Amino acid sequence: MRLDARVTLVTGGGSGIGRAIALRFAEEGARVVVNDIRRETAEATVKEIGGQARAIAADVADSAQVRAMFEEIERALGGLDVLVNNAGIGEVDPRGREAFHAKAQARIGEMMAGTIQTHWDVTQAMTDATWARMLAVHLNGTFYCTREALKLMSRVNRGAIVNISSVAGLMGIEVAPHYGAAKAGILGFTRSVAREVATRGIRVNAICPGWIDTPILDPLPPMVRMLAERQTPLGRLGDPREIANAALFLASDEASFVTGQWLSPNGGLLTI
Ligand SMILES: NC(=O)c1ccc[n+]([C@@H]2O[C@H](COP(=O)([O-])OP(=O)(O)OC[C@H]3O[C@@H](n4cnc5c(N)ncnc54)[C@H](O)[C@@H]3O)[C@@H](O)[C@H]2O)c1
Repeated sequence: MRLDARVTLVTGGGSGIGRAIALRFAEEGARVVVNDIRRETAEATVKEIGGQARAIAADVADSAQVRAMFEEIERALGGLDVLVNNAGIGEVDPRGREAFHAKAQARIGEMMAGTIQTHWDVTQAMTDATWARMLAVHLNGTFYCTREALKLMSRVNRGAIVNISSVAGLMGIEVAPHYGAAKAGILGFTRSVAREVATRGIRVNAICPGWIDTPILDPLPPMVRMLAERQTPLGRLGDPREIANAALFLASDEASFVTGQWLSPNGGLLTI
């Protein structure tokens, strides 16, 4: 019971990593609030948890919706001990899935033949809207939720925040520069806020997962998925529960001297 009775908000908890975190934290005694932009998926996770969990539908990229969500948490649960900023989107190519598949297929063939002639050209095709939405969900969403969480945590000078970044924020990702930028931004924000709120007893850390088997990878053609497995020294994609275990460590008192850091469960994909 490493999170006994701690009120925890997990954003994007209706699927994949967020769902696994919500379930794992509940096993450790947390009173979990599951947020998702899709109400039915948040409710499905809550149903799996049973007991004291609660679902709140809200778009983390909308500051008014985030404020309303935190007002509901304060009214119903009296405060917040742990925030996991996990909600995310993973659209890979602003020109759509088919264009991405065609390029990926062509490049793999060319790679085998020896010379790559098909260029990604993602940044030059990026629309303002695609760029803005990616940053809004990941970076603004993390900021909006952190801002509200800190108001509650500052009252008791205690709390833990875990931000889900990505290896893409550390090493870049050629097919999704907007995603790489958002995830790197989350790391800078994590370090800064960790320094800012340390004297209040609030810890802020990030997780940089490698390739994890969740619906966010659905747009990948089978060949690219296979390459992701092969590139990973452990030879497989990660399981969302493996990220949940890392989040549990950072959220719990076991990490009481850890703040402003990132932890990267990535199967050896990135070793630094
Ligand atoms: N799966 C991976 O390989 C991988 C690797 C590194 C980082 N991540 C990150 O992990 C996090 C979780 O991703 P996942 O793999 O579980 O994907 P997923 O698609 O299974 O889950 C993401 C969840 O976030 C929700 N969501 C999306 N936009 C939202 C918004 N504006 N407000 C509230 N909820 C929203 C979705 O509805 C979905 O339930 C994301 O931040 C993602 O970028 C994933």
